[in-house]
Amino acid sequence: MFPPNFAAQFANIPTPFYYYDTALLRRSLAEVQKYAKKYDFTVHYALKANTNTEILEIVKEYGLGADCVSGGEVQKALDMGFAPDHVVFAGVGKSDQEIDMAIDADIFGFNCESPQELEVINEIAQKKGKKARVALRLNPNVEAETHKYITTGLNENKFGINLEDLEGVLELIKKSSNLHFIGIHFHIGSQITNLENFKSLAQKVNTIQEIFDTHGLFIEHLNLGGGLGINYQNPDSEPVAPFESYFSLFDQHITRRRGQQIHFEIGRAIVGQCGSLITRVLYMKQGSSKTFVIVDAGITELIRPALYQAHHHIENLSSPSTETAVYDIVGPVCESSDSFGKNRVLPITQRGDFLAIRSAGAYGEVMSSFYNLRPKAKAYYVA
Ligand code: LLP
Repeated sequence: MFPPNFAAQFANIPTPFYYYDTALLRRSLAEVQKYAKKYDFTVHYALKANTNTEILEIVKEYGLGADCVSGGEVQKALDMGFAPDHVVFAGVGKSDQEIDMAIDADIFGFNCESPQELEVINEIAQKKGKKARVALRLNPNVEAETHKYITTGLNENKFGINLEDLEGVLELIKKSSNLHFIGIHFHIGSQITNLENFKSLAQKVNTIQEIFDTHGLFIEHLNLGGGLGINYQNPDSEPVAPFESYFSLFDQHITRRRGQQIHFEIGRAIVGQCGSLITRVLYMKQGSSKTFVIVDAGITELIRPALYQAHHHIENLSSPSTETAVYDIVGPVCESSDSFGKNRVLPITQRGDFLAIRSAGAYGEVMSSFYNLRPKAKAYYVA
């Protein structure tokens, strides 16, 4: 991940900054496509994980489509040259303007999350004399065993159409002359490491497909979402996510209909491990019971530890010491949640050292903010 002379090489670069290992990104993309092709699955990259132009260029080279959740992401995908018929637009609250733009762009389809959204898309398409392609995002009520903020497939979550409403929604689709039904969509959550949860999803999907059979509706596209987790504890032991097991599980457990296409929309597992947040130690501070390492990156660059109590592995890239000590690594922002790790064992650390906060390629830079008028961290790409 880092060359041995990293600290010398980046000595004069202002910190904090994001560092992307594009060779690792390519390895992940090659692997995801290898196994997707093996089972004849189609993968869309979930832009929300990382929308950097340099990253998207590489993703596009490997032939993935684009899964977008805002007009801004749809526009970015189109500007980057993703073919409109490889762009899908999901999200629980699409605005009229966003829908308008996506219909004009003739994207592959909308993943719709409520009856009212279907009515609005139908109306907007009607005014344009067009038919909009829609898939229904269904809430399967399946546990994902992940942080509650990134669990999306339970009845208590705002996402998807509840199964009790399905019959009504199918009637609505039948009478909406400007909607073209293309399939169904699921996404039960993110950072899912117990693959058994995907098996439960597959089983639920099989039962749901039978409801569509009774309506004589063919599900041409079955979109099983994303959510495959990565190893945050020990990123070097698993730099590439377990795509083979993930896809083979679905291949084994989904009852695929003849002629049916199966889609996935994967974000974190593709870009998570290739990015690190690099920060410099500003001060060492002895508290009454702890030693604080105060670094120049904060929640403004990486909010995941504060928001989801997420663990990110932290390395000291410049300490020559063979001795270790226990530290709390904290940022400069005036919030006690501005902390990257408690009780971490690092080589003896001092002012000026470079620390790498690992596995920050997904939901890192994209979630950064300007709080405290802090400037946007730059990004560097290494092949
Ligand atoms: N499809 C839908 C409908 C989604 O909502 C998401 C993620 C994905 C696909 C991609 O999921 P992935 O393969 O990346 O797990 N900010 C949080 C993660 C939010 C995920 C939101 N939805 C974090 O930092 O953990």
